Amino acid sequence: MAMGYRVLLITATSWCLKRKRMKIFIVGKTGMVGSECRKVLSRDHELICPGKKEVNIISWDGVIESLTESSPDVILNCVGFTDMKACETEEFDVRKINIEGPRNLAQASARFGCKMVHVSCGHIFDGQKPMPQPYFEDDSPNPVSAYAKSKLESETAVRGNSPDYIIVRSMCLYGATGKNLVKSVLAQALRKSTKVLRVPVDQYGAPTWSYRLALQIKELIESNGKGTYHATAAGHCSRFEFVSHVLKALNINIPVEPCSLKDLKDAAGWSPNCLLENRLAKKQGIDVMVDWKTDLDRFLNMSGDDLIKEARRR
Ligand SMILES: NC(=O)c1ccc[n+]([C@@H]2O[C@H](COP(=O)([O-])OP(=O)(O)OC[C@H]3O[C@@H](n4cnc5c(N)ncnc54)[C@H](OP(=O)(O)O)[C@@H]3O)[C@@H](O)[C@H]2O)c1
Repeated sequence: MAMGYRVLLITATSWCLKRKRMKIFIVGKTGMVGSECRKVLSRDHELICPGKKEVNIISWDGVIESLTESSPDVILNCVGFTDMKACETEEFDVRKINIEGPRNLAQASARFGCKMVHVSCGHIFDGQKPMPQPYFEDDSPNPVSAYAKSKLESETAVRGNSPDYIIVRSMCLYGATGKNLVKSVLAQALRKSTKVLRVPVDQYGAPTWSYRLALQIKELIESNGKGTYHATAAGHCSRFEFVSHVLKALNINIPVEPCSLKDLKDAAGWSPNCLLENRLAKKQGIDVMVDWKTDLDRFLNMSGDDLIKEARRR
């Protein structure tokens, strides 16, 4: 066969394989990440999205029963106990939801021969690397908070039990659903008693739109990714820059005063350096992330007015 035709054939075959329609079982469909994954993946795949009442991931029998009925190609775990403060005191629930649940799903993925995709976070690192050095997928973890420790254990449970897994670590997420960074800025800024916002200049991250993370998860699944991937927006900023940008874009006039992490009472457990490098996805040519400001502006254009109304209602 002529070289040109062979290249064309290989490209077409890999495109078809990549775009294969799959049956994807999503848990955590009502959360920030789960709701975006549901929207994005439903374009090209068949989804089974049981709610918590139908499948509680901490129940092995419930998980097995549901998977026996649906026999998916992929299990996507978007469940999490994500309230970092509550994690410090509610040890029992954190263990069940963040560790035993993912273990059940990983063991089930082995039993049913399907891929397991699990969402984790960059808090598994201690955030002490000097800026602007990012964390790579194979850097040594050193979780500080109870939440972070549980997420690291969740990763171990997935790696140890699923022969075909993807772990996607993200960080600094915002979106239309659930509690998140942009919403907490607005809630604080629009509170009647707030006269000034004090925001650290020495905490850095790459604010990432949960919709973009869902696109990255779709790409990883369709490319048959394997292993641990970092997935955050391109570029980075300080929390001060982020908050100032959100308020300016939404025409909210409240003074923002720069401070240091150590000056804030409620900043215990905040990592100074939250930068993750998407090294593996870039190496494999499947990184879909864009600059943090580009996505943030799109998101605020689309959802800013609704978010302001929501914050004012509270
Ligand atoms: N938020 C972030 O900034 C961030 C950053 C990096 C990674 N992550 C990770 O991404 C994942 C999703 O986070 P998120 O912010 O989207 O979470 P979220 O908004 O708090 O949503 C959590 C989801 O889990 C479901 N759930 C809780 N317990 C369950 C159980 N026992 N069985 C079945 N479903 C259960 C909830 O259902 P109900 O609504 O019915 O309670 C909800 O759908 C988590 O693993 C989190 O660690 C989050």
